[in-house]
Amino acid sequence: MQELVIASNNKGKITEIRRLIPDLSLLSLKDINFSDEIPEPYHTFEENAFTKANTIHQFSRRNVFADDSGICIGHLNGAPGVDSAHYSGVRDDEKNLQKVLSEMKGIDDRRAWYKAIICLIWKDEVHYFDGTCHGKILSSKRGAGGFGYDPIFVPDGYEQTFAELPLSEKNKISHRGKAVSKMVAFLENVIR
Ligand code: IMP
Repeated sequence: MQELVIASNNKGKITEIRRLIPDLSLLSLKDINFSDEIPEPYHTFEENAFTKANTIHQFSRRNVFADDSGICIGHLNGAPGVDSAHYSGVRDDEKNLQKVLSEMKGIDDRRAWYKAIICLIWKDEVHYFDGTCHGKILSSKRGAGGFGYDPIFVPDGYEQTFAELPLSEKNKISHRGKAVSKMVAFLENVIR
């Protein structure tokens, strides 16, 4: 079976992605003995996704992919965006979510969208896949599943938050689900 490294330490992301890629042997950073922090110093999802994938590709010379993702809020001019993981100044999902709730207090325009960019380095060539999921931000948390901003995000066409929907449902409509499906379609073609 072909091997592919996931260049991420984010448990929420890895759980979702493992469910979406059944026919490849997925290796974690631990499996390849990479224990450093991966830098994400840039201002776009594309640059961050490339840097993460390329760091691990240089280290391992294996096929690898990285996801860079975040939530963008209309009223906040697209913030937190690429800063979603450390919006409050620290990498803490609860603090980041609380900062968004306080900035959105009393605001009528609740439009938001999640965005994911995947950078895949396959046989030394770089490929990108994207996914977006539109919805709205609630004024308080609901649900215990998911991660990050999921308890305050309701996707368009649904009543439940991403933290209330089963993962199988979230994966069908989420930004990451869409980007990973595009990558899987690409891999199915090149592996055959
Ligand atoms: P990064 O791609 O490692 O920079 O981090 C992405 C951050 O965006 C996560 O830490 C979350 O805060 C947020 N995020 C991305 N995708 C999701 C999702 O599907 N649910 C909830 N939060 C997400």
